[in-house]
Amino acid sequence: MPNTPENWVALTASAHRIATISSQQLLEDDARNQALRHSLAGCHFDFSRQRVDVQILGELHDLARCMNVSAKRNAMFAGEKINTSENREVLHSVLRGGAPNAPELYQQDVLETKRRLLTAVDDIRSGSWRGFTNKAIRDVVHIGIGGSHLGPELVVNALAHLPGSKTAPNIHFVANIDANDINTALGGLNPETTLFVVVSKSFGTLETQVNAATARSWFLERTCNPQAIARHFIGVTTNLEAAARFGLEARNIFPLWDWVGGRFSLWSAVGLPIMLQIGSTDFEQLLVGARKADEHFRNAPAEQNIPLLSALFATWNTTALNCDSLAILSYDQRLALLPDFLQQLEMESNGKSVGLNGERLDYRTMQILWGGCGTNGQHAYHQLLHQGTSRFAADFIMVATDTLERPEHHQWLLANGIGQGQAMALGHQPSSPNEQHKHVSGQHPSTSIVLDDLGPVQLGCLLAIYEHKVFCQGVLWDINSFDQWGVELGKNLALPIFDQLQGSDASDQDPATRHLIDHYRTIYES
Ligand code: F6P
Repeated sequence: MPNTPENWVALTASAHRIATISSQQLLEDDARNQALRHSLAGCHFDFSRQRVDVQILGELHDLARCMNVSAKRNAMFAGEKINTSENREVLHSVLRGGAPNAPELYQQDVLETKRRLLTAVDDIRSGSWRGFTNKAIRDVVHIGIGGSHLGPELVVNALAHLPGSKTAPNIHFVANIDANDINTALGGLNPETTLFVVVSKSFGTLETQVNAATARSWFLERTCNPQAIARHFIGVTTNLEAAARFGLEARNIFPLWDWVGGRFSLWSAVGLPIMLQIGSTDFEQLLVGARKADEHFRNAPAEQNIPLLSALFATWNTTALNCDSLAILSYDQRLALLPDFLQQLEMESNGKSVGLNGERLDYRTMQILWGGCGTNGQHAYHQLLHQGTSRFAADFIMVATDTLERPEHHQWLLANGIGQGQAMALGHQPSSPNEQHKHVSGQHPSTSIVLDDLGPVQLGCLLAIYEHKVFCQGVLWDINSFDQWGVELGKNLALPIFDQLQGSDASDQDPATRHLIDHYRTIYES
């Protein structure tokens, strides 16, 4: 059990005890319910459907104290190198002005880069940035993957309804190495009016390198003008030399720093497509929302601290209640990509099985995170959630304001979101013993998050709350949330297979791998 066996003895006993108490009974305690509801920056978090009572709440806070969450939080914000395996600081909150005690130099770098970015954004949006034939930019192709893709695409989609979007260029995202992705993006584009933004923290990621090279070839084949690259390619990276080698002009390269993890980077120049979509004023509001979450996380007492509470319940659900998965259920179409974004944020951060001391853990850490959009999911996978044998937790995300002025649609949407959480908590006992097929067990923990409106402040706050939740869970599990060594193996294994698919000797491979290579070669050669 995590580092603090005595806490876990109490929590394990409580897990047995709570199994005998229904969610219906838990919800009868008004004082408990009130203590589990908190609001920040237009985001309301209702944790009352979590499977905790006042005693468990106290035990979870004891755990947080024993694991030194607040001291470690202060260390993160002050710029200590808490990413120990990479010897790096974790300072994404500097990007939104949320870490006033972080090194001054970093704050200046952020401000200077932001100044350059905002000039570029205003030029592109206003049409004063001209392509090589003196035409304004109409399409922007963002090339990047993982943390260099998921956050920007989520926010561009989520905030496309803001007025600033009316004057935005069309934004296209290319992430996958599958040529279908870039072919779809490039189809119908005019190189004279297209700008490519190559985003890669390392500037060495295979997918992004291959896609960027294809984009450059596509551009040069049509323009026959290498000088024109200067007006049509921008880069965002920590690896300024590699970006220059690719052919980017220094003034078109926007820096990133190794103290910003890729999956925490949407607030930086990585968020360029967001700025292009919604404009610099609303991008600033996104940062304001995130900064409010930073301030809250730094200062709010533990009992009201939303990221800490989110992490305590998530850790409880996973490690004590054995939930196999966390379902992110967006009851707003504009947030359809939220599960994808959170998958990387939570699973790449906390999908670990070695503790900070290098020893293997004997407890469960991050579960599978998945999700989708309500109400569609109700007609697909909710059957399993209600009557299957899997244990899971869920986050419901809803938006109160109906910007489309279609109250019937909106109230049905909310009624379903609220009702699904109710079914998961309370279940259903059929009146007749012959109707066991109608039995719904309930007792599944969920959090309901209601945004007043889907504006930049609320969205910034929501995403930063999830970031800090991830940090707290890492501390509670005693793991490093900021590295991702597990992804390296697959990358390395693909290298020889790539050569073997082209015909080099595959006899050293294991039988399954060799068979698949041979099968491909047979089809390729026929
Ligand atoms: O392979 C995983 C990963 O390193 C992620 O952590 C990262 O967000 C993504 O690849 C893209 O990396 P980069 O921004 O360096 O291209």
